[in-house]
Amino acid sequence: MNLFLDDYDTGMAEGRYQYQQLPTLSFADQSFDLALVSHLLDLYSAHLSEDIHLQSIRELLRVAREVRIFPLLTLTGELSPYVAKVEKQFTDWGYESERLMVPYEFQKGSNQMLRIK
Ligand SMILES: C[S@@+](CC[C@H](N)C(=O)[O-])C[C@H]1O[C@@H](n2cnc3c(N)ncnc32)[C@H](O)[C@@H]1O
Repeated sequence: MNLFLDDYDTGMAEGRYQYQQLPTLSFADQSFDLALVSHLLDLYSAHLSEDIHLQSIRELLRVAREVRIFPLLTLTGELSPYVAKVEKQFTDWGYESERLMVPYEFQKGSNQMLRIK
């Protein structure tokens, strides 16, 4: 968080921070090594449909080699119902998908991320 805040003014001036709205991004295919989704997909499962989750992750994998999503619990603290569906769909499409423990917990017990590449 501090790295982001320290970089923000410079990053804005250099055009490295851009407003984009999933499920569609304007970046070219495979522009990035890594796409991080923090506190949006899965957390807001009650507000974003399964289709939006699948489309958004597919779009992120179009622009980046690897996508990491954290956390996997919803706002009410349950595992998002979309995690298993996303894992199955992206495995069927030929991607590798795994859940990994992370050393960070914002909501109690919410310490897993999903990595798809
Ligand atoms: C809870 S905040 C998390 C902010 C930050 N990523 C973090 O972890 O501290 C959710 C963020 O998702 C952004 N957001 C909402 N809908 C979005 C969409 N369709 N595409 C991209 N970002 C979206 C909001 O603008 C907000 O910044």
